[in-house]
Amino acid sequence: MRHRTGRELRDLFIKFWEGKGSRHVPSFSLIPDDPSLLFTIAGMVPFKPYYLGIKEPEHPRVITSQKCVRTNDIENVGRTARHHTFFEMLGNFAWGSYFKKEAITWAWEFLTGPEWIGLDPGRMWATIYLDDEEAFDVWRNDVDLPEERILRFDQDNNYWFMGDTGPCGPCSEIYYDRGERYGCGKPICGVGCDCDRYLEIWNLVFTQFDRQKDGSLPPLPHKNIDTGMGLERLAMLSQGVDTDYETDLFTPLIEHTCKRAGVAYGKGDRSDMAVRVIADHVRSVAFMLADGVLPANDGPGYVLRRLLRRAVRFGKLLGFEGAFLCEYLPILINVMGDPYRELIDQRPTIEQIITVEEERFQKTLQQGTDLFEAEAGRLASKGEKVVPGEVAFTLYDTYGFPPELTREMAGEKGLSVDEAGFAAAMEEQRQRARASSKQKHSALTGDVYTEMENEFGATRFTGYEGASGQGKVVALLTPEGRIARVEAVNGTPEFELILDSTPFYAERGGEVGDTGRMTGASEAGREGALLEVMNTVPRGGLTVHHVRLERGCVAVGDSLFCEVDDERRSAIRRNHTATHLLHEALGRVLGRHVRQAGSLVTEEFLRFDFTHHSPMSDEEIAEVERVVNAQILRNAPVDTQECGREEAQRLGAKALFDEKYGEVVRVVSVSENIIDNNIFSMELCGGLHVRATGDIGCFKILREESIGSGTRRILATTGMNVLALLQKLFGLRAAMTALFSTDEDGLKEKAQSLVDELRRMRNEVQATKRRELTENSERYLERQTVGGVALRTGRFPGVSTDMLREIGDRAKAGPDPTVAVLASIAEDESVQLVVMADDRAVKLGANAGTLVKEASVILGGKGGGRPTTAQGGGKDGAKLDEALKRIEEVLKEQVKA
Ligand code: SER
Repeated sequence: MRHRTGRELRDLFIKFWEGKGSRHVPSFSLIPDDPSLLFTIAGMVPFKPYYLGIKEPEHPRVITSQKCVRTNDIENVGRTARHHTFFEMLGNFAWGSYFKKEAITWAWEFLTGPEWIGLDPGRMWATIYLDDEEAFDVWRNDVDLPEERILRFDQDNNYWFMGDTGPCGPCSEIYYDRGERYGCGKPICGVGCDCDRYLEIWNLVFTQFDRQKDGSLPPLPHKNIDTGMGLERLAMLSQGVDTDYETDLFTPLIEHTCKRAGVAYGKGDRSDMAVRVIADHVRSVAFMLADGVLPANDGPGYVLRRLLRRAVRFGKLLGFEGAFLCEYLPILINVMGDPYRELIDQRPTIEQIITVEEERFQKTLQQGTDLFEAEAGRLASKGEKVVPGEVAFTLYDTYGFPPELTREMAGEKGLSVDEAGFAAAMEEQRQRARASSKQKHSALTGDVYTEMENEFGATRFTGYEGASGQGKVVALLTPEGRIARVEAVNGTPEFELILDSTPFYAERGGEVGDTGRMTGASEAGREGALLEVMNTVPRGGLTVHHVRLERGCVAVGDSLFCEVDDERRSAIRRNHTATHLLHEALGRVLGRHVRQAGSLVTEEFLRFDFTHHSPMSDEEIAEVERVVNAQILRNAPVDTQECGREEAQRLGAKALFDEKYGEVVRVVSVSENIIDNNIFSMELCGGLHVRATGDIGCFKILREESIGSGTRRILATTGMNVLALLQKLFGLRAAMTALFSTDEDGLKEKAQSLVDELRRMRNEVQATKRRELTENSERYLERQTVGGVALRTGRFPGVSTDMLREIGDRAKAGPDPTVAVLASIAEDESVQLVVMADDRAVKLGANAGTLVKEASVILGGKGGGRPTTAQGGGKDGAKLDEALKRIEEVLKEQVKA
């Protein structure tokens, strides 16, 4: 067997299957077009519609090397050398094309053929599903595998289900015997044993059935093939190493950690785990970011955050100081940048987000760890074993520790976490948050929509051509606990309505749904229905109208005339095209690292989130406005055109990672210069746009702000909204000029002189107050005697330290040995402290330096000085009483003679 790198193996796989008439397509995004999954967990995921027969494949035989992430076992990643989050799955897929015989014999050819992988056939085993005689025959007769090396397993092992429902089928797995050296030595050791001897290489699934909720298995439209083989594992065999982590896909990452930490990998040291965790998580984090996932508190973004923080924590365990994750990016690019160009293209964004996220966690990691250690110590001293839920919640809420991380840290010390207590603390916080924000209306969604889409097909959208049109009612749904289909509606005021075709745009790609009305024809004895369309939303391929019945009744089969509120839609169109112009203008003004991170287009405003590291300057904002408005004034036509996805990407159309695109995409472009046909902006987009940029009227940015993690948000508006804004500002100006009795030019000067005067007067008042304080300080000083020394204490709001010293000098002028303690409290509650002792007091043992030092610690600050004069303070003014008490105690000790 030849030693081959990961890249060579990937290429070899592609070459082999191209020889079998398969088409290679690049890996799909890690974020699947499938709301039931957080990540792409297998090569077949992007092809689900082909298995279900919802869509026809362009080519009946396809292969991929698919980026995958599995997150069911994160705690075990690193602990063992077998678990990964990110991995690549090599797979061949066929829909109604070849079936078991070809899938098995070709897999065999690839694995054992001397010009391919060249594994020893004598070490190979196969498993099949209990009674899959068809597969058995192929293994026995076509491959010629000895009968005793074909094993039969039950549903738990040899049936592949994608989820609770959906495509599934019996499978046949191919195993490789690595020899006794890897075995557990138990007498029952064999294929399927947990030890490392028999290694599953390839899973061939014969996808034939569509599992239903009730467990029944109706056949799929075609007999299909879905196979999956981990590239990492194949590399391990080809490279003759013991684990995936020792292959060339991981070693450069591992070597970097070892060099940085000064440890050696693979000697069974405690550091091995940390080294593996970092290698694995760095891959997931970088690939997720490259596919547009952003750190968040739920969904894929939460997994990203959790992995990143887990990697940071293990780096800390290796003694890494400061941020380190970005160091792995060039190394990873070296290994994976071909074919995964997104790592290179997105590198600035990936680095930026990692840095922000990592630095933020680094800030709290040590404090959180200290808190946890203290708690663990407390529990140990009491012989307790459960970390209170409150502590886990504080770690989560204040220090950003994902609960899973706390659980893992607890596990390392043989402790558990009070999960109920944690959940209760979490719930309490949720209640608080909920009370402060209005609850969002959430539509009831269920499989009823999928069923209907299978029944009637997707809704046809006719709204690109116009804002009105005829549609036939195919379904009516009323919420009765959950959504129920009904045949006709008359009494129910609000319900959901689905047409075969509709001009109403369903909320998508950030653009809100259309509103408007529908009317039915009057018939003899029956008044035509009148419906108000309050919103339009997508459910899979269906367009669902949220309607209110104003008059008459409506039934399935009725024909309705639809009229979109066109004025509102025109405002939406303006904001949508302006969003494209803004996107491009930001790239030109701020740099090409700018990526869309979210967008909302309504009739009133547009909101655009994008990656950028710092606040925009006023000049940058003005420049972006100028660029956009210049395009508007050119009145360039906005062109929409359908083409193939790859073609669109070749043309350079902007595409968003988190958007799902089909094979045929809609490209919206604005030309910059009609004569030369230069393009200003080109984007993949299904939304509604103006005919020419001049329709936008005018564009104005209203606000630019941070929304965290190196992401900025712009709020802007267009058209009539800009006019309304101008009118409002003119009204405000009129009110101000009247108030200040001046004209526009005089306004700023007038306001400035008023502010100046106010400041001067405030200073004067304060100066008077302070003078009064100092001159009469005697009155404000308390007096007490501590072992023959007069201790004079006073509190003076807003007084400078110089003045405190002056008061101190006066206080010392008395007949007795004196120590003066003078505090000035600022508006922000911070305290400045001056302590002075006269020579007589010093002779008796008093030391102002020590006194101020002890008091400042209590105030959360620092202080010190000479025995006669010292200065200090802290931010914690609420502890002043305690600090003064402490001075009294220490002084008592000092002058004790
Ligand atoms: N879907 C199967 C698996 O994940 C084969 O690709 O194992």
